[in-house]
Amino acid sequence: MLSCKQAGSPEALDHLSYHVPVLLKEAVGFLNVYPGGIYVDATLGGGSHSRAILENLGPEGRLISIDRDPEAIAWSRQMAEKSGGRCTLIQANYSHLNEVLSEVSPVNGILFDLGVSSHQLDTERRGFSFRFSGPLDMRMGPDADLDAGTLLRTWSEDELARIFRDYGEERHARRIASAIVKERHNILTTWDLAELVRKVSPAPSQSSRIDAATKVFQALRLAVNAELDGLKAGLNAAVECLAPGGRLVVIAYHSLEDRIVKTFLKEQSAPCICLPDLPRCACGRIATMKTVTGKPVRPSEAEIAANPRSRSARLRVGERLSRGR
Ligand SMILES: C[S@@+](CC[C@H](N)C(=O)[O-])C[C@H]1O[C@@H](n2cnc3c(N)ncnc32)[C@H](O)[C@@H]1O
Repeated sequence: MLSCKQAGSPEALDHLSYHVPVLLKEAVGFLNVYPGGIYVDATLGGGSHSRAILENLGPEGRLISIDRDPEAIAWSRQMAEKSGGRCTLIQANYSHLNEVLSEVSPVNGILFDLGVSSHQLDTERRGFSFRFSGPLDMRMGPDADLDAGTLLRTWSEDELARIFRDYGEERHARRIASAIVKERHNILTTWDLAELVRKVSPAPSQSSRIDAATKVFQALRLAVNAELDGLKAGLNAAVECLAPGGRLVVIAYHSLEDRIVKTFLKEQSAPCICLPDLPRCACGRIATMKTVTGKPVRPSEAEIAANPRSRSARLRVGERLSRGR
């Protein structure tokens, strides 16, 4: 963990150049911020959501802003210093939210704005994008076990095919995995990998504007950062940390993440999970959450036009019930 005073200093203060926030008003509105409450931004990034939460907090309120990426923590150092002690920055993985929040929970609202920041995507040396020729890194933070290059060099063809299929929904997962295993000692950069994937993939249809390497890059990123398991752990921990009436607000950017959030909210708001033909309840479960958004909230056309990266966003909200596990 890193307190705001320990974090390094950003080069510039223009937080929008780090990341343009998505569904900013909607997300902070759903958090129902009241002046004396305690709120958690589990994915600080460039700090825009945190700033908006701080604007609604009074002198007694508190904000805990978390990111696994030390560059995000460093970027928001001044925001925390100017907050009059209301904001604490913590470098951690949100999958350990219970431990991170052990001294402040229960809290009144938690925001997850999932995925990568524009800063991570657009920084060549981080290796997230095939728009640049960078090292095969893709780690969001130093807590990730291995980088993408190590994964590609050491995982078996079966394991690679599995992640391309399960995390990338890639139809040619086996063919790509096999080509990678044959060539793996020559794949040193993002461009080497993207070129190989394009070479072994069937030619995309003329109408397709999606690069053949997109799904493989998504799969690798999810695997390197254990994103889907981390999300499940983070959501479960969040429920434990929320006070009754506290809101859980989640913005997802692809169907795999959104499915996890949707299923999670459905399960937490179901009072009993026994099969319908059981004569009486055997699970003894009590609902812990109420779903606030039936359908996910999506960005407006104006927001998508201004920030095309927002186009896939889906926001879902749950509210902690007073009775529960
Ligand atoms: C989409 S950005 C957040 C942008 C932010 N809301 C803003 O407005 O600038 C997602 C951030 O979450 C962080 N992140 C992703 N997974 C994480 C995890 N498991 N634990 C902590 N931080 C995580 C990433 O490092 C990234 O900085």
